Amino acid sequence: MAWPIIVAWIHYVSIMLMIASLLGEHLLLKPELAAAEARTIQRLDLVYGGSATVVLITGVMRMFLEKGLAYYNHHIGFHILFGLFIIAALLSIYPTIVYLRWRSDTRAGKGQQLARDRFKTIQMIIRVEMTLLLLAPFFATWMAHGEL
Ligand code: HEM
Repeated sequence: MAWPIIVAWIHYVSIMLMIASLLGEHLLLKPELAAAEARTIQRLDLVYGGSATVVLITGVMRMFLEKGLAYYNHHIGFHILFGLFIIAALLSIYPTIVYLRWRSDTRAGKGQQLARDRFKTIQMIIRVEMTLLLLAPFFATWMAHGEL
């Protein structure tokens, strides 16, 4: 059947989108942002949230389509992968709240001035998220292969 292949494909494309949008946010973020830059960061964050949701949905679907729930639930690699994903999701809450607060300003064509502390915090969060996303495929591959 083609479903396992289609779902795996969507899983990988969504992972690529997660990393691409995060990298985009990281490259664009600076203490002073023009309205267009702030708007792009808001859009990238939407892509990030949307693609993370698709990664989760297709990941759960793959648990059923590949080896079954019991296999993954008994594999430490799966629990570490899931833990990394949850930490990345929780970390993304703060930047998303900050970007959402920009909405009325960006609609009015106004840019943003980020306080140094806030800028550094968001930058560090994005860096940690990118590191977690780079570690995740190791654990995904481990759980797919079984033993180390
Ligand atoms: C950003 C986070 C994630 C990354 C980078 C990632 C990456 C990958 C990769 C590279 C594979 C292929 C492994 C291989 O065939 O060698 C894979 C497979 C898989 N992923 Fe994800 N994944 C992520 C999140 C998730 C989540 C949250 C779940 C579950 C809820 C999940 C469930 C699965 C399953 C079930 C497979 C199939 C494993 C198998 O073939 O037995 N993934 N993932």
